[in-house]
Amino acid sequence: MYRTHTCGELRLEHNGKKVTLAGWVQRIRKFGSITFVDLRDRYGITQLLLGESLNQQLDQQPLGREFVIQVSGTVTERTNKNPNIPTGDIEITVSDFAILNGAKTPPFTVQDDTDGGDELRMKYRYLDLRRNIVKQNLELRYRVNRSARNFLDSRGFMDIETPFLIKSTPEGARDFVVPSRMNPNEFYALPQSPQTFKQLLMVSGYDRYYQIVKCFRDEDLRADRQPEFTQIDCEMSFVEQEDILNNFEEMLKHIFVEIKGITFNEPFPRMTWDDAMEFYGNDKPDIRFEMKLVNLSETVKGNGFKVFDEAELVVAICAKGCAEYTRKQLDELTEWVKRPQIGMNGLIYARYGTDGTIKSSVDKFFDEGKLKTWAEKCQAEPGDLILVLAGKEERTRKAMSELRLEMGERLGLRDKNVFKPLWVIDFPLFEYAEEENRWVARHHPFTAPKPEHIEWMNDLSKYADIKANAYDIVLNGTEVGGGSIRIFQRDLQEKMFAALGMTPEEANHKFGFLLGAFEYGAPPHGGIAFGFDRLCSLLGGSETIRDFIAFPKNNSGRDVMMDAPSTIDQSQLKELNISLVQ
Ligand code: AMO
Repeated sequence: MYRTHTCGELRLEHNGKKVTLAGWVQRIRKFGSITFVDLRDRYGITQLLLGESLNQQLDQQPLGREFVIQVSGTVTERTNKNPNIPTGDIEITVSDFAILNGAKTPPFTVQDDTDGGDELRMKYRYLDLRRNIVKQNLELRYRVNRSARNFLDSRGFMDIETPFLIKSTPEGARDFVVPSRMNPNEFYALPQSPQTFKQLLMVSGYDRYYQIVKCFRDEDLRADRQPEFTQIDCEMSFVEQEDILNNFEEMLKHIFVEIKGITFNEPFPRMTWDDAMEFYGNDKPDIRFEMKLVNLSETVKGNGFKVFDEAELVVAICAKGCAEYTRKQLDELTEWVKRPQIGMNGLIYARYGTDGTIKSSVDKFFDEGKLKTWAEKCQAEPGDLILVLAGKEERTRKAMSELRLEMGERLGLRDKNVFKPLWVIDFPLFEYAEEENRWVARHHPFTAPKPEHIEWMNDLSKYADIKANAYDIVLNGTEVGGGSIRIFQRDLQEKMFAALGMTPEEANHKFGFLLGAFEYGAPPHGGIAFGFDRLCSLLGGSETIRDFIAFPKNNSGRDVMMDAPSTIDQSQLKELNISLVQ
C-alpha cells in the first residue's frame, strides 16, 4: 500500500497513529540536525519532521522540490501549530522515507503566488495544475458539472452523445475541418454545437435531452472565448418559451445554492432586446448597477453645436457622486474613449455641483437652463457627473455601453461576489451582415420567428423588425447561455433558408437531412445551451475561462504545452490526398 492517508486528512485525533503518506515535496527547511518537509498532494499539505536518525540517508539521497516521496512515521502534536492549514496541529515524525521519483528544479514555484508568467505556466501546465489555486478552479468546474447533471437527471433529461465528425455547414463562426482518408477530397467538420442533432433527437421522441459537450469554433479569441469550449446543451419537446425559461432558471438557481450557497427567491428579471440596446447599449447588460443610457438627441440638437447637430445619436450616462472628478480624471476618460477600441472623437461632460450649479465642457452653446434639462433627462442630482458621447448611431451606442462598464468598474459597482442574472428576450430574428451584404440569422437558422411576424418574412423592408422566440441568459454582463424555440415545419424552415439567401438546392445540400426529418412527424421543440466554461469562471470570480479549463489554448489558438497545431508528415498528407500550398 503506497499510503494509508492523504496529505489533507490527519488531525490531532490521529495523534500517535502510525501512518504512511505519499506526495510531492513542496518545501524543505533544515534546522541543524533536523529537517522539515511540507508534503503535498491533491488533498492538502502535511508537515514532516525528519530527525537526526535520518540525517545520513538525507545526505546520501538529498530531497528537492517536487520530488515524489513516500514516508512512514507517527502522527505527533506540533509545538508550533499552524492555524492556516487544516493539518496545522500535527506533523509526522518520520521513521522511514523513500524517494519514488526525483524532479528537475521546476521552471516556476509551484505555489499560489507563483513567479511563473502566463506563457511559462501554460507550457508546463501539468505543473501549474499542481497549484492550489488552479486545482480549486477545476474542483469548482467538476462540482458545477455534477450539480447540473443531478438537476437534469432529476427532471428526466437523458444524456445522449452526438458525433464530433459531421458535415461542414458554417453559419456564424468558421468550422474546423478534418480531412477524410477513406473519402478522398472530402472533409468532416467539428461541430460548432450539437444543434441539428439535438433537434433530430426531438424528432426521434427523446423529449428531454442534455449533454455536457465540447463545441469547436474557429473564431478570434478573447478572455471568454476558446476555440474548443464546453456547453451544457439541452433540448425539450412540447414546450413553449416560458417552459424553457422556467426550467433552466431553476437549474441555475439549483447550481447557485449548491455551489455558492446563494438563494434567489425572486424570479430572474427579464428584459426585451430592444430595451437592453436602448438602456444599456448592448444585448448583455450588466445590471449590478444602473447608470442607464439616456438618449439626448432630441434635447440637444439645434443649439449650433456641430458635434451634436450632425450626430446620429447623442447619448448620456449619469455617474452618481462624480461631480468632483478633476480635470485630470476627465482628460483621462476622454483619452479612454478615443482609444481605437472605442473609437470616439471626444467626450463631453457636465458637472452638477453640490451647490446646484451646472458647468459643462460646452458652456458656449448650452447655458445653465439648458444644462438643467440635460440633468432632468438623466435624473442627475447635485453632486453627479453627466458624460455625453455623440456620433454615428451604432458606434456611439457601443462606445457608451463600454464607457458605462468602465465607470461601473472605476466606481466599484461590479463586485464579482454579487450575482445578477437576467433573461434577455425577444431577439431580432435577423441581423444585417454588412460585409456579406445579406441578412443572416441573429441566433441560428433554426430559430422560430414569433408567429405573428412570420408573414413579414415576405417583405424585406420588415426584416429588421421580425422578432424571434429567442432568449439569452446573462450573468453580470456576460452571455452565459442562449437558445430559442425552433422551427419544426419543413415549409417554414425552407422559407427561413431562402430568407438567408440560400437557393433550394443549397438548402437541400446543407440541411436536407433536417428538412427530410421534419416530414416525418417533428414535434414542437426548443432548447438552450449554457457556456459551461463561462458559467464556471463567473462562479469562480474570474474574467478568463482559461483558468477553468485543464488544458486551454492561448490567444493564438495554440496549445503551447504540446505545441499544437503542428505540421504533419508528408506520408500523412499523401494518405489524405492533400498537397500544401507553400
Ligand atoms: P450559442 O452560440 O449562443 O448557442 O452558444 C451557447 C453559449 O456558449 C457559450 N459560447 C462560448 N464559450 C466559450 N468560447 C466560445 N468560443 C463560445 N461560444 C459560445 C456562450 C453562449 O451563450 N446551439 C445554440 C444553442 C441553442 O440554440 O440551444 C448555441 O450554440 O456562453
